[in-house]
Amino acid sequence: MTEKAQELALKATEIRVALGGRDVLRGIDVTVAAGEIVGLLGPSGSGKSTFFRVVAGDLSHKGTIHLGGAPMAGLPLHLRARKGLGYMPQGASVLWDLTVAENLKTFASVALGASWSPETILEKATAVGLGERLDVPVERLSGGERRRLEFARALTRSPRLIVCDEPFAGVDPVGAAQLSALLVAAAKGGAGVLLADHHVEEALAICDRALLLLDGAVAVSGSPETFRADTLVASRYLAQRPSVTTTPQSPDRANAFPDPASRRAGTNAS
Ligand SMILES: Nc1ncnc2c1ncn2[C@@H]1O[C@H](COP(=O)(O)OP(=O)(O)OP(=O)(O)O)[C@@H](O)[C@H]1O
Ligand SMILES: [Mg+2]
Repeated sequence: MTEKAQELALKATEIRVALGGRDVLRGIDVTVAAGEIVGLLGPSGSGKSTFFRVVAGDLSHKGTIHLGGAPMAGLPLHLRARKGLGYMPQGASVLWDLTVAENLKTFASVALGASWSPETILEKATAVGLGERLDVPVERLSGGERRRLEFARALTRSPRLIVCDEPFAGVDPVGAAQLSALLVAAAKGGAGVLLADHHVEEALAICDRALLLLDGAVAVSGSPETFRADTLVASRYLAQRPSVTTTPQSPDRANAFPDPASRRAGTNAS
């Protein structure tokens, strides 16, 4: 965290959302300081994307959202972008018929108005490893490349708050490391970062703080170490994988599950 950490990039207070007659967010408070990286983690359906959509101005809700101290009530996403929000939604959010450069230009002209420049486009595309692919139609990108483009778009305006909903999904390990480095660099530059991802270790590796969201409420908040060690996190979110046994198998079991070599050779004695 930088010395600007006292400033709040995000202050969300008492956020409540009901969808389909069900309380999906039950009055949650989330803050992200400038320069801080916060992980909003939790099981599928716990409400992470719903909260991100609230921050983006995409969902009606109760409670208040402040970005950099300014109230966001009633502002749509493009105006929040101009006030410093970079948002990478969970689902695909590209213009499929356009090229990488055209996608970035389209968003830059919305987020930056007349002040966008081709240099900005090239800089952001290069930062995510797409500098050589500016003229490629987005429909021809791989899933991981498309994700990197969406990430570059979220960084277009040097945002004061970056909200990334599963940035590592479908991205290869090198790409994930590059995205992590970019998020850390953005935080060092003073941006607040809020991310959700089921690649828990990748997320915790860069987080200053992690929150466990359970059934629309924040159940745990603490350092990555505290989060990893929490029993509720272990029981409700981090799966306890069965250990691989090296105990010799009984003859019966060996016959029931023959080793692959003997299966291929058809040598399983029965
Ligand atoms: N339009 C809707 N109508 C009714 N229920 C909805 C609607 N949109 C989302 N939900 C429900 O809200 C809950 C929270 O969904 P959300 O997408 O926020 O979960 P999530 O924590 O992001 O999950 P994941 O980790 O799978 O992305 C889910 O149970 C979902 O079914
Ligand atoms: Mg989600």
